[in-house]
Amino acid sequence: MNSFGRIFRITIFGESHGESVGVNIDGCPAGLPLQTEDFLQDLERRKGGMQKGTTPRKEDDLPFFKSGIFNGFTTGAPITILFENNNTRSADYAKQRAVPRPGHADLVASQKFGGFEDYRGGGHFSGRLTVALVAAGVIAKKLLSSLESPVSVQSGITEIGGEPDPEKGLEKAIQAKDSVGGIVECKVKGLPAGLGEPFFDSAESVLSHAVFAIPAIRGIEFGTGFAAARMFGAEHNDAIENQAGLTRTNHAGGIVGGITNGNELVFRIAVKPTSSTPKEQQTLNLETGAVESFSVKGRHDLCIALRVPVVLEAVTAFTLADLLMLERHVPRILKR
Ligand SMILES: Cc1cc2nc3c(=O)[nH]c(=O)nc-3n(C[C@H](O)[C@H](O)[C@H](O)COP(=O)(O)O)c2cc1C
Repeated sequence: MNSFGRIFRITIFGESHGESVGVNIDGCPAGLPLQTEDFLQDLERRKGGMQKGTTPRKEDDLPFFKSGIFNGFTTGAPITILFENNNTRSADYAKQRAVPRPGHADLVASQKFGGFEDYRGGGHFSGRLTVALVAAGVIAKKLLSSLESPVSVQSGITEIGGEPDPEKGLEKAIQAKDSVGGIVECKVKGLPAGLGEPFFDSAESVLSHAVFAIPAIRGIEFGTGFAAARMFGAEHNDAIENQAGLTRTNHAGGIVGGITNGNELVFRIAVKPTSSTPKEQQTLNLETGAVESFSVKGRHDLCIALRVPVVLEAVTAFTLADLLMLERHVPRILKR
């Protein structure tokens, strides 16, 4: 459904061209200082219209705190944050209704919800909802950094369109008048050993569950990932160097047996090229029953990956906040 987490539990809601999108966070400890300024940097990092290759749609993205914050601190009650949608152009989508975009959720949304779905701007499937994920991430990151043993989460782009130099990859897409994908890496420092469960709730499973809530993600790999299949065992094993379990190398990426091992958590995700490419494509016209050529109108990201690092940090942070709370690493009331 639209909720995730067992103690630090987040619910996201809204549609791209509806009145607002937002997030509700239950289980956040009391006493965490929070104000609008805490959100601005990450919200800015997620925005389109700021850099080459991202959508020209611009929203203010100011958080409206509706519950759970009082006198500048979290109260321990559910926190609700809303973001208004003001810069919408729904006409672009009404015209496109009979022609579902290949690669986007238009057709499956209609099949699943019987045509009742809000299709404008991708509706509930839109990347716009990642603003809600980022807001939850701001709170989770602040919580993680306030712990007695602080945990820090950082993400960055490692390639765009197959090029290690993002500029070069983006330029390739601009020249081809097409969209491109990319790879985003996440690193987490300060994580204790012992988070996660051996089987279905392994740390990798829970992180992957959250990561695939980000639209347009195609893959995830921890540590050496798929490259491990091409290594020898002696080469891949990480030599243990001390009682705490610190290892000389970190091919495991910080998780063994589904449990964090106290080393840096390292994983990468693959972001697909934006389905709404300016290039001419073919799809079914639901009214005429004929496959026809069309090109996507409206404002879109040429490269979604450029906007994903801060979203990846967010989902990682709230997933880890939940895992840390399950292992009682987080007090219910934070010290002033
Ligand atoms: C930050 C962000 C921005 C996005 N912007 C667009 C966009 O401008 N155009 C588009 O077609 N898809 C965009 N997407 C991706 C779609 O929402 C996604 O491809 C679609 O919902 C189908 O889901 P899937 O790709 O996970 O299968 C964006 C995703 C994210 C994370």
